[in-house]
Parts: sequence; structure tokens; C-alpha cells
Amino acid sequence: MRERKKPEDLRSARWFTPDDLRSFGHRSRMMQLGYGEEDFANRPIIGVLNTWSELNTCHAHFRERVQDVKRGVLQAGAFAVELPSLSVDESFIKPTSMLYRNLLAIETEEMIRCHPLDGVVLMGGCDKTTPGLVMGAISAGVPMIYLPAGPMLRGNYAGKPLGSGSDAWKYWDERRAGNISDAEWLGIQGGIARSAGTCMTMGTASTMTAIADAMGLTLPGASSIPAVDSEHQRMSAACGRRIVEMVWEDLTPDQIITEAACRNAAVVAMATGCSTNAVVHLIAMARRAGINLTLDDLDALGRITPLIANVRPSGKDYLMEDFYYAGGLRALMKQMEDRLDLSALTVTGKTMGENLQGAKVYNADVIRPLSNPVYEEGSLAVLRGNLCPDGAVIKPAACDPKFHVHQGPALVFDSYPEMKKAVDNENLEITPDHVMVLRNAGPHGGPGFPEWGMLPIPKALIKQGHRDMLRISDARMSGTSYGACVLHVAPESYIGGPLALLKTGDIVRLDLPNRRLDMLVDEGELAKRKAAWVAPAPRFERGYGHIFLQHVTQADKGCDFDFLETDFGRSAGEPEI
Ligand code: FES
Ligand code: MG
Repeated sequence: MRERKKPEDLRSARWFTPDDLRSFGHRSRMMQLGYGEEDFANRPIIGVLNTWSELNTCHAHFRERVQDVKRGVLQAGAFAVELPSLSVDESFIKPTSMLYRNLLAIETEEMIRCHPLDGVVLMGGCDKTTPGLVMGAISAGVPMIYLPAGPMLRGNYAGKPLGSGSDAWKYWDERRAGNISDAEWLGIQGGIARSAGTCMTMGTASTMTAIADAMGLTLPGASSIPAVDSEHQRMSAACGRRIVEMVWEDLTPDQIITEAACRNAAVVAMATGCSTNAVVHLIAMARRAGINLTLDDLDALGRITPLIANVRPSGKDYLMEDFYYAGGLRALMKQMEDRLDLSALTVTGKTMGENLQGAKVYNADVIRPLSNPVYEEGSLAVLRGNLCPDGAVIKPAACDPKFHVHQGPALVFDSYPEMKKAVDNENLEITPDHVMVLRNAGPHGGPGFPEWGMLPIPKALIKQGHRDMLRISDARMSGTSYGACVLHVAPESYIGGPLALLKTGDIVRLDLPNRRLDMLVDEGELAKRKAAWVAPAPRFERGYGHIFLQHVTQADKGCDFDFLETDFGRSAGEPEI
């Protein structure tokens, strides 16, 4: 750890200390806000980046919670300013929130860099907000602590627990099969999201906040605390107190986000059941930190890491509230201590090993011992083959094992509306052996890499009682989804990846044990199809979408913008004004 800072070394001192006209302006503007020099001079200025919005239902409590953070900052003798940040919500944004993760990352980096901030508290949680905020803050390089929104309470309808996303898909299939009345459907609609907080399955939000926790970016175990639990308020105040100390200690993100921290995060992600989205975000976060974490590294960990969090959708029975009562993430990490690098430094200023001391499992069915996992392995597998030379991912644990080795004829759709029409057709000619394919749904094609990858099972098969089939796309899927879905096919079809060459009726073969995904079409024929392929027009010709298409990397590289992937601290520098 570096030497303790003195007030004159603070970054904000550049704004407030000099006896010149510019600093006079800065000080007078603070006084305009009603603050005297005793409030802000010679004290760390802490930015609280708040991703609250009235359309971000998962962050509904952030409007009040920010006051708890500020309380903590003040208690520790510093000055807090709230900065509203781009609120990338998962529920309402079209075509997909993923389009805006990088915009949040850019905004975060730039708002930190241009303002007189010595440290930041990042308030996020809904899917893309965790990676967006963290990626930006890594590049900005000032001390930061991540404050996870926390999961919402368990859903409930008619005395039964309901899980975010997962139960929506499940009951929707039942409704399509004609098994659910309008009144029941309305009851489920009202019961599936009962409080502020993020989705309470182990979806993308819970996986990503667990990753931030395991990387050492949150107070220990903070990611498991339900949003509306009073412990969440106390944790928020503690974040405020701790960030001030981090500023004095000069505990910057480059000391925390090391190769060891990324590996710890990946191991923990696998043990929790790991949303497939985590793969894209984890790679992007690591690459921001100058660490080349690859799909193959994640596949290797997926093969040896047992899934021990019995939380849906990969686990069978429980939800995030149960996970918290069972001991939360600290307890899970304690169970697998010997697979983690306990020397990794964290925001507490202590090592991960020290943070885990005393953690206990209170319910061994929710957080399983390594000797009794939910699955021995299989949170995630990375496939390669002539359909996905740069990789594709699948969640073996979340699909019917009969599809682990499967061969069948492709039914290919070029767009979501075309696919939707077909799946709603009760007379569609399709067998359970068919392989449904949706293309033009990647970063360029979607556009923005939407969560369309859990293609609905065609009505024609639902009525026969089928609930799973092999599906392939260059899209992502929601972390709360399940089924035999191959996702993130790279390179994507819209830029000419081999998925663009597949035709309805071609035989596709998945061989999960050997990590292969191929179309059984001979090379001469594929070369002919490739020569005839014509690149479609870009999805955006102007605005942010245009920037996105110019610079987004493919799924295997994390979909960051190429120009943002820098090493720590390498920026254009701050002008001397
Ligand atoms: Fe926000 Fe799921 S919609 S976490
Ligand atoms: Mg989601």
C-alpha cells in the first residue's frame, strides 16, 4: 500500500487550494451552494455516482440510500457530492441495455476525471450498471468502492415463491399452453417484483454484483444484502466511511483489480451458476485493467468449479433472500477458500483471506459444501467449431442433459419478428430434434447484442409437452433464462461470421463434452456460400449507435469499445489549467 496522503496531496486540492483566479471561482461556487471552506477545504471530496432513475425500478431505493452514503462520508471527515449517472435499466430500454453499458463506462470515467473528486462510491446493481460503472472507474483510476443495490425480496404468488425472470418464462409457457387464467396471470404479474432491488434470482445482476464482491470492490459480502434490509443502509454508510480512508491510503483500483482478483471473481461466478452475460462483462472489466482474461480461461474454470449456490435458475430451489440468510457470498467464498487467491487486496485494505475470516454457512442446502454440489461442474462451457471459430457459450447445468450431444436439422431465422411469427404458428413443421437458429442478433446485428438467445419453444412443440430444445444464436440471453441455448456465437453473422452461411435443413451438431459446435456442410459448399454473401447495411448511420458500431469488439473480447481498452492510468492526461 502507498504512503498515506496529506491534504495538500489530494487531487481536489488542485481545484480549491491555489491563490489564483480560477480557484477563487471554484471556492466561490462552493459557497454559492451554502458551504464554507470548513466544509470542503483540505478534505477529500467524494463523488457518489448514483444510477437512480424513475425508470430504473431496481434502483428505486437509491434516492434515499445516497443519504446514508453521505452520512458515512461526513462522519469520516470528508465532503460528499452526489452525481447523477446514466441509469441503464434492464426492464425498459430498447433495443437492449447492452447498447449503453459502454456509454455508462465512458460517462463514469469522464465525470470522475473532469471533476474535483478524490474518490468515488459507485451505486449500481441492475445488470449493465455494475460493469459499466466499474469499467469507467478502472480507467479513471481514483479510489473507488462499489455499492451494490442488493436483490429485491423473493416474489410470491398464491403462497408460492416466484423468481425474477425464470418464473416469468416458465409461467408464460404454461399460459401459451392454455394452463393459466387471466386472473392468475395478473396475480403473478403483481407478485413477481415486490420491492426495490435487483432481480432476486442468480441472474446477471446478482452474478455481476457477486463478481464485484469477489474482486474485492465492495465491502465484504455487501452484494448479498437485500435492497430493503436495514443492513443495506448500514452498509451504505460504511461505504461512505471507508472510501474516505481509501483516499488517504491512496488505495487505487489498479492495486485491487489484479489477475488474482479476476480469477477469484471467475471462480466465484462459476460456483454461483454464472449468468452467461457475466462472461462478456468479466472479460471487458479485466481487459480494462490490462488483464487478458479469455474465454478459454473461463472454460477451464467452468470444468473444475462445482456449482454450490443452490439459487435459481441454475440451482433448483432458492432465491437471493435465502442466499443472504444462509450466510451470503462470504460464506460461499469461505467454502471454497482453497480455490481462491486469499492474498488479493480488497477495498477494506485487507486481503480477501482476512475478509473471509469468521464467515459461516447457516443453511447447507442453500450454500452447499464442495462435497455435495448442485452440479459437479458446468456453470459455463465454451464451444468452438466451424459455426463459431471465435467461440460461443452454453450453460450445461441449465439445459436438459439429453442435448449435451445432439444432432439435428437447422431451422434458421434472420430476424426476431420472423422467428416470433414461426414459434406462434401452431402448425409449424418442426420436431423436438430441430435446432432453432436466430442470427443477426449480435453486437452489430441486434443491434447492441440483445437478450434474445432463449428463443421461445414453438407452440407446436409446447402443446406436445416439450419444454426444451437446442437453440443457437449470436445474441445473449437473460441471466435468469435457462435451456439448451448456445449464445454469443462469434464472429457474429451480421459481419459475416459463419453463422451467416447456415441454411435451413443443414445438419448442426453439438458435442458438449468435446466443446464442439459444427454445421455438417462441406468446405467447398461453405466457400461458395461465403463468396455469395453480401454484407447488410449498418444498423445505425448516426449518433451514439454509429460510434457503437464503429468501435464495439465481438463477444469473445467483451464488447468494449476498442479505444477504451487501455492500461491503467494511460489517458490523455489532465490539462494544467
Ligand atoms: Fe434490474 Fe433484473 S431488471 S436487475
Ligand atoms: Mg437480466
